[in-house]
Amino acid sequence: MNAKKNIDWDNLGFNAHNTRSMFIANWDPIGGWNIKGLVPYGDISLSPASTVLNYGQGIFEGTKAYLSSKDRVVLFRLEENAKRFNSSSSRLCIPEIPNEIFINAVKNTVKDNLDYMPKKNKGSIYIRPLAFGVSPTLGVKPADHYTFLVFVTPVGSYFKSGLDHLNVLVTNEYHRAATKSIGSAKAIGNYSGTLLPFSEISSAGYDEIIFLNSSNEGIIDEARSANIFIVKDETLKTPPLKGSILPGITRDSVLKIAEEVFHLDVREQDITIEELMDADEIFFTGTAVVVAPVGSVCYNNKTVKLKKSYAGSITKSIRETLIDIQNEKIKDPFGWVMPLE
Ligand SMILES: Cc1ncc(COP(=O)(O)O)c(C=O)c1O
Repeated sequence: MNAKKNIDWDNLGFNAHNTRSMFIANWDPIGGWNIKGLVPYGDISLSPASTVLNYGQGIFEGTKAYLSSKDRVVLFRLEENAKRFNSSSSRLCIPEIPNEIFINAVKNTVKDNLDYMPKKNKGSIYIRPLAFGVSPTLGVKPADHYTFLVFVTPVGSYFKSGLDHLNVLVTNEYHRAATKSIGSAKAIGNYSGTLLPFSEISSAGYDEIIFLNSSNEGIIDEARSANIFIVKDETLKTPPLKGSILPGITRDSVLKIAEEVFHLDVREQDITIEELMDADEIFFTGTAVVVAPVGSVCYNNKTVKLKKSYAGSITKSIRETLIDIQNEKIKDPFGWVMPLE
């Protein structure tokens, strides 16, 4: 079967498509990580009593490979994903994986599936590393066997609506994660809790949801899978990395671009709901969403339309600079881009 034929390459969206291969390594308490390497992409079998199925003992990462303007494939800040994978692992009692194994696994999986790279300006290859407990246990305790898996898929844009039109709802009915729980790890359990809130808000016509901080509902945390920024009078603000906020790699890149390229006043500070509703610009950041501008925000039945249009916004300048660095259209002043040798 030629899986590629079934892909609508001009309208990719953000979906998982079958590809050629995936990378697997297994961990056992005696031998540690044992690399199996690339295997055909497909289903895996699991014990019904595995810790990942029963207790959500699993973590993941998300990064992308781009076909750059230099006609070569590049990766972006992959070492940061390796580091975050390991901090998520420690939080979930999953054995850490050496950065070298993580990076080589990603590179080898991308290389073996290079023909799934969309044409220029049509998308990128999304890379999804996972680690999860596979051995059976009935008591709530860590597994003693684990699998590390990397799969890839071609993706296009995350949001269906175009730039400038994201309609966002701030929910006071749900939290994403408790401040002292696993919100700052990329733990699979953080995402299942957002499925119902998201399905409710999307039926009501919204594109994304903003969660309030679970210990202080006067300040905002982030979205389902993206960090949040506001711009007010040339000051760029994002909530600080404490509590339940995921340390986004795009977040960090945006902070550095804003400070070092645009010399903006950049602050990692709590954002109150009032500041959010009074912002000149609001945008999300993430590997999947890139830099996504918000058009309107609703809280407690009050909707505010963002005054500033996308053209001429700080959001646009930051978004374009980030994309141009990732696509090697401009010089990368930070050393973030790594060619896939
Ligand atoms: C909860 C959450 N916040 C923020 C982000 C953005 O992180 P990054 O920029 O590293 O993709 C993600 C990304 O996957 C996420 O799941």
